[in-house]
Amino acid sequence: MKGEVEHRQSSFEPQAGRGTISRFLEDDHRRLDALLKRASAQPGSIDRAAYDEFRRGLLKHISMEEKILLPATQRVRGGEPLELAAKLRLDHGALAALLVPTPTFAIIRAIRSIIEAHNRLEEGPEGVYAMCEELAGPEAEALLAQLKAAPEVPAAAHVDSPKVIAATRRALARAGYSESLLDD
Ligand SMILES: [Fe+2]
Ligand SMILES: [Fe+2]
Repeated sequence: MKGEVEHRQSSFEPQAGRGTISRFLEDDHRRLDALLKRASAQPGSIDRAAYDEFRRGLLKHISMEEKILLPATQRVRGGEPLELAAKLRLDHGALAALLVPTPTFAIIRAIRSIIEAHNRLEEGPEGVYAMCEELAGPEAEALLAQLKAAPEVPAAAHVDSPKVIAATRRALARAGYSESLLDD
């Protein structure tokens, strides 16, 4: 009879300590990092094509985690969410809020500093991705297929009202970041 461990090894081939779900989502982090870097590479003007691609990509990435990865992990834990899930969702809320106004260099700096801290929670052998992958066990391959098939998230037009800026500052504060991240 095929044991569960044996099954995991045969259906799932971790490379250099990184499983397939981790690799897929960490590669997406690198792709988004590169787009954000390109968006702000020229002093004085933001590369809007790069930023728009980053914005669409980040919304999709967040949706993959919130709609597919975290719920699947919660299911295999008998309905109990990961301890870090609430913090990840607050970070996602702050990031999504920062994507609403028209980008400025201050907004890009704030996004970058949140993403750096956030990705450290998700990546690596002790990170959330590795945890989710481990918990998924033999379901990991199917979960990866779902992540790969995730739909694009339609990005709404930018809104720059004082209300939006205030909401963005509140989302930063709720996630534990200083509102001064947004100061020029
Ligand atoms: Fe995330
Ligand atoms: Fe992520």
